[in-house]
Amino acid sequence: MQQDVERVLISEAEIKAKIAELGAQISADFAGKDLVVVGILKGAALFCSDLFRAITIPAELDFMRISSYGAATKSTGVHRVLLDLDYTLEGRHVLIVEDIVDTGLTIKFLKDYLSQRGPASLKVAALLDKPSRRKVPVTVDYRGFEVPDFFVVGMGLDFREKYRNLREICILKPEIYES
Ligand code: XMP
Ligand code: MG
Repeated sequence: MQQDVERVLISEAEIKAKIAELGAQISADFAGKDLVVVGILKGAALFCSDLFRAITIPAELDFMRISSYGAATKSTGVHRVLLDLDYTLEGRHVLIVEDIVDTGLTIKFLKDYLSQRGPASLKVAALLDKPSRRKVPVTVDYRGFEVPDFFVVGMGLDFREKYRNLREICILKPEIYES
């Protein structure tokens, strides 16, 4: 797997430190509140698990899975909910956890979708942010790292379902993307 990596953008140590920082910030911001952490499968599964362990206040953990149609490495903004939360969010504080915010269409969809269930607040945490690719304005309340416009893998992010288990955020060799 490592031999397919062209460049490491963010190291494991940097990721660890950032997640600890975000966890402390979230714990302070939601202290005394009824917090539901919602990880978006599959990409955010690894980041969400680590972030959830870094949160030191009582909180609930859940997952959603959505699909977007279109080319493998592009987001089209057409979404379908494959796995939903099956309880009310009325009056609760919801934190959506995503791997990366790219065009912003996925987060916009999720915020519109979940806000219909009357949460007290709806915030977003994302390990990575590619603001240069934004198509719709979205606020990332808890952001790990800003990345340039490269297709990145690792820490849950995949290329054709592989490389999610890389511990760093990496760019793959061009021949891998072209294959
Ligand atoms: P949008 O465009 O809706 O995209 O903000 C969010 C989703 O697009 C995928 N995505 C990537 N996946 N490396 C990946 O492995 C990338 O560089 C990348 N950029 C976007 C990802 O599934 C994310 O949830
Ligand atoms: Mg994803």
